[in-house]
Amino acid sequence: DRRIRIAPSILSADFADFGAEIRAVEDQGADWVHIDVMDGHFVPNLTFGPQAVSAFRPHVKTLMDVHLMIAPVDPYIAAFADAGADRLTAHVEAGPHIHRTVQAIRDAGMTAGVALNPATPAEAAMHLLDLVDLVLVMTVNPGFGGQSFIDLTDKIATLRAAIGDRPVHIQVDGGITPETAPRVARAGADALVAGSAVFRGGSVDAPEAYGRNIAAL
Ligand code: DX5
Ligand code: ZN
Repeated sequence: DRRIRIAPSILSADFADFGAEIRAVEDQGADWVHIDVMDGHFVPNLTFGPQAVSAFRPHVKTLMDVHLMIAPVDPYIAAFADAGADRLTAHVEAGPHIHRTVQAIRDAGMTAGVALNPATPAEAAMHLLDLVDLVLVMTVNPGFGGQSFIDLTDKIATLRAAIGDRPVHIQVDGGITPETAPRVARAGADALVAGSAVFRGGSVDAPEAYGRNIAAL
């Protein structure tokens, strides 16, 4: 099923009103809700921990797609499982044992994704394609919303060819707009994260604006 999944990143939402923001994007057609967890160490910014993810859980009707920009990952897997995450995506750059991390995420009852920073080659994910349900190709250096897209369409195409018939999504995250979305989709991406392009400084008073922004991707 190569339908394109849209996963708004609540990093660009109103931090004082997450419940309403999540409902608004889901009502307007979001497939998954993307939650960017940052530790101020793996990336130079701080966001949410397991307690925040647990507070989001009752508001999310679709799927909680949790992107971990933290190192180390393994000590926190149980806490994110308890918080109700559906998928945990960990970076290959976050430690020396990504294979063990992926196994631990699966053993905790979630699906596992693996993320690649812009400078990391596609080959870093190849030995994990039978274990993950998603490869996340970062098209910005992670840490902040609203950065400009880095063109990595060759990496996306290499991964799509390697995945073949396996049920593995290619998710693209960073600088996704109505202009860049078709380019990554043509290269083989089937899941798009978008923060600033969906929320655009909007508010839950105007959920139809989210719908227009989502539909444009
Ligand atoms: C960046 C995060 C992204 C971010 C994308 O570190 O992983 O999910 O929110 O934001 P935009 O869509 O604004 O580039
Ligand atoms: Zn993300």
